[in-house]
Amino acid sequence: MSPFEPSTKLRTGMAQDRLIIGLTGGIGSGKSTVATLFAEHGAGIIDTDAIAHQLTQAGGEAIAPIRAAFGNDYLTDDGALDRAKMRALIFSDAAAKQRLEHILHPLIFEQAKAQLRPLQASPYVVVVVPLLPESRTFRQLVQRVLVVDCDENTQIARVAGRSRMSETEVCAIIARQTPRAERLQLADDVIHNDAGLDNLAGQVAVLHEHYSKM
Ligand SMILES: Nc1ncnc2c1ncn2[C@@H]1O[C@H](COP(=O)(O)OP(=O)(O)OP(=O)(O)O)[C@@H](O)[C@H]1O
Ligand SMILES: [Mg+2]
Repeated sequence: MSPFEPSTKLRTGMAQDRLIIGLTGGIGSGKSTVATLFAEHGAGIIDTDAIAHQLTQAGGEAIAPIRAAFGNDYLTDDGALDRAKMRALIFSDAAAKQRLEHILHPLIFEQAKAQLRPLQASPYVVVVVPLLPESRTFRQLVQRVLVVDCDENTQIARVAGRSRMSETEVCAIIARQTPRAERLQLADDVIHNDAGLDNLAGQVAVLHEHYSKM
């Protein structure tokens, strides 16, 4: 193959030559904290939550299709997605949830792939995908799955401590996410996040060594 010709893999826009880790975990399990620790080691980070946020800001790419599907009712006055209102809708309406996901998921995936391209120099890339268990597309993009796991009581306490969400609301979200045991079955690697931040940093350092050599 000529050196000027991109590899088949690159042409399809899917897997690259370097390692891509899919990082997932339940609400408040510590995904963002773990991603920050990997970034400190020099890993490339792509955060699909941040991408979703960007897409649904005023002027974001998802706004026009959301308006077409849901009308202006679910947009704020300045034209961003009204998150609270949409969250309430999709909590009680499975069809609406699916409609929103059909708009958002392909856009998130395209944006994640676009962000991978300039990260060629990183030793490996960690893609934070809370919905990895539900997304075959993202599971095909990554070569390894890293699950951040902790006790549900720890999740509840941390999320309730961080936001204005009540314990009942956090429990309701956990109940709708992929069950812990099912998520763990997808894992190539697991980070146990029930202890303190020093312990967490230690586990990330070990995995960093491991990923750097793969
Ligand atoms: N080992 C730890 N010790 C103490 N606090 C922690 C630990 N890990 C995470 N936290 C805190 O718990 C909260 C949840 O962590 P984080 O935001 O990283 O989780 P997340 O999985 O990204 O959550 P979300 O699902 O909402 O995106 C944060 O306030 C974070 O600072
Ligand atoms: Mg997070």
